[in-house]
Amino acid sequence: MSNRADPCVFVIFGASGDLTRSKLLPAILNLREEGYLPEEFAILGIARPDIDQAAYRKQMREQVRQAEGEPLDPGKWKRIEDRLYYVSGEFDDPALFECVKQTLADIGQRHRIPPNYLFYFAVPPDLFGLVADRLAEAGLLKEDDGWRRVIVEKPFGYDLDSARALNAALRKGLAESQIYRIDHYLGKETVQNILAFRFANGIFEPIWNRRYVDSVQMTVAEESGIGRRGAYYDKAGALRDIVQNHMFQVLTLIAMEPPISFGGEDVRDEKVRVLHAVPPLTHDDVLRHVVRGQYEGYTSESNVDPKSRTETFVAMRLFVDNWRWAGVPFYLRTGKRLPGRLTRVVVEFKRAPLMLFRDTPVRSLSPNTLILRIQPDEGISLCLNAKVPGPFERLETVTMDFSYSKYFKAEPTTGYETLLFDAMTGDQTLFHRMDMVEAGWKAVQPILDEWTRDTRSRIPAYPPASSGPPEADVLIERDGREWRD
Ligand code: BG6
Repeated sequence: MSNRADPCVFVIFGASGDLTRSKLLPAILNLREEGYLPEEFAILGIARPDIDQAAYRKQMREQVRQAEGEPLDPGKWKRIEDRLYYVSGEFDDPALFECVKQTLADIGQRHRIPPNYLFYFAVPPDLFGLVADRLAEAGLLKEDDGWRRVIVEKPFGYDLDSARALNAALRKGLAESQIYRIDHYLGKETVQNILAFRFANGIFEPIWNRRYVDSVQMTVAEESGIGRRGAYYDKAGALRDIVQNHMFQVLTLIAMEPPISFGGEDVRDEKVRVLHAVPPLTHDDVLRHVVRGQYEGYTSESNVDPKSRTETFVAMRLFVDNWRWAGVPFYLRTGKRLPGRLTRVVVEFKRAPLMLFRDTPVRSLSPNTLILRIQPDEGISLCLNAKVPGPFERLETVTMDFSYSKYFKAEPTTGYETLLFDAMTGDQTLFHRMDMVEAGWKAVQPILDEWTRDTRSRIPAYPPASSGPPEADVLIERDGREWRD
C-alpha cells in the first residue's frame, strides 16, 4: 500500500457547514502535516453563501481555528489555504455543475492534478440523489480519465424502505465501488484495533465463542444532550442515530469470523454475515427485550416537538444465531444525558467453578471480563481474580491494563483522517456497504414498527446524569446479569 494518497481534488458539497470546519479541514490539515497527501492535491468547497474565494478562505481560517480551540500554526494553514478553492451556487442549478467542472479543470492544470475527484456530500440526505444526478449530467462521475468517488454521511435512510430508495438514487449514476458511506466510528483507532486485537493475537480467538463467553455488553453513553440538533434528532432518536450504524459496526467487528484477507470485500462479507445472523425480533421480543427512554427536559429542547415520543436512550438484547455465538446475549445500551461520555465493549467470560473454594470464605467468583475502552481513556483491560495477601483465602478483582495514550503517546485525531485517506486510496474496508446498511435496518425494523404502532404507552423518563431508566436494569437483571459500568 502506498503511504501517500492518490493525487486528487477533494470536493466538498456543503462546504460552509459545521462538518467542514470541525472535522474535514482539520483532518486534511493533519494528513498534510503527517505527509500523507501528495503535492498534487487541492480542495474545492461548494456551498450556497454567495462569497468569493478570498472571503471563504478567511472564513475557514477563522472557523477552523475556533473548532481546533487553539491558535492555528500559520505555516500549517497556509499549506492548505493555497489549495483551497470555493464556488457558490444552488445544488439544483445545472449551471453550478458546469462551473464546478470548469473550476476542477483549472485547478487540475494549476496544480498538475490528474482528474481524480473525491466528492464529499456534506448535505442533507434528501439532496444526495440530486447532487449525484447533477454530477452525472455534467459528466463528472464517469471514470474514463481518472477515478470518481463519492462519500456520503449517515443517516443512510430512515428505515429499510427509505434506505433502499436512497441507495437507488445514488446508484443511478454510481457503481457501488464508487460509493463510500462514512461512519466516523470506524475511523476511531480503538474501533479499528478490534480486528488487530482479535486476529493478531493467538490467545483470544480460541475462547472467543459461546463455550467461554457468557455475554457481551456494549455501551455508548453521552453526557451531552441533543444540543442544537433538535430538528434532526427528534426525527431520528437513539436507535437510528447510534444503534443501527455505530453500534452495529462495533458489534460486527466483535462477532465476525476471521476474514480470509483484510481486503475491503472480504472484511465486509464477514461483517454483514453477523447482521444476517441476528434473528428478527418478534413483537414479544421488542416488548420484553428492548427498552427506550427519554431524558427529562428533552421535550423543552429547541426544535423538539413538545409531545415528542422520540427516544434518547435505548437498551436491548439481541442474539447472533450462528455456530460461534448461539445462546450468547449481546446487550446494547446507548443514551444521551448519561453520567459521562463513554464507549466500551465488555466481554464477560463464564465463571470458573466455585467448588474448589467451598470451604473458604469466598462466596462467589467474579467473572473474568475483557473491557475494550473505545473512548475516552482508550485502552483494553482484563479483569482477573487474585488472592488478597494474608492467611485467609480472600479474592479481589484486579486489572491488567493497556492504555493507548501511555503506550503509543498518540495524539487524538478527528477520526476522519484514516477514512479520508482510505477513500483517496480506494480502500472501502472501513465504509458501509449497501447490504450492510440494509441488514442493519432489517434488524431494527421490528422495533421501529412496534414503536410507530404504539402511540400510547409511557416512554420511561430518566433524570439527566442518571444511568437511564430503571427498566434498562430490569432488562438485564431478568437474565441474572448486571450492567458493568
Ligand atoms: C453521531 C451522532 O453520529 O455520533 C451524535 O449523530 C453523537 O448524536 C455522535 O453524539 C457521537 O460521536 P462521538 O465520536 O462523539 O462518540
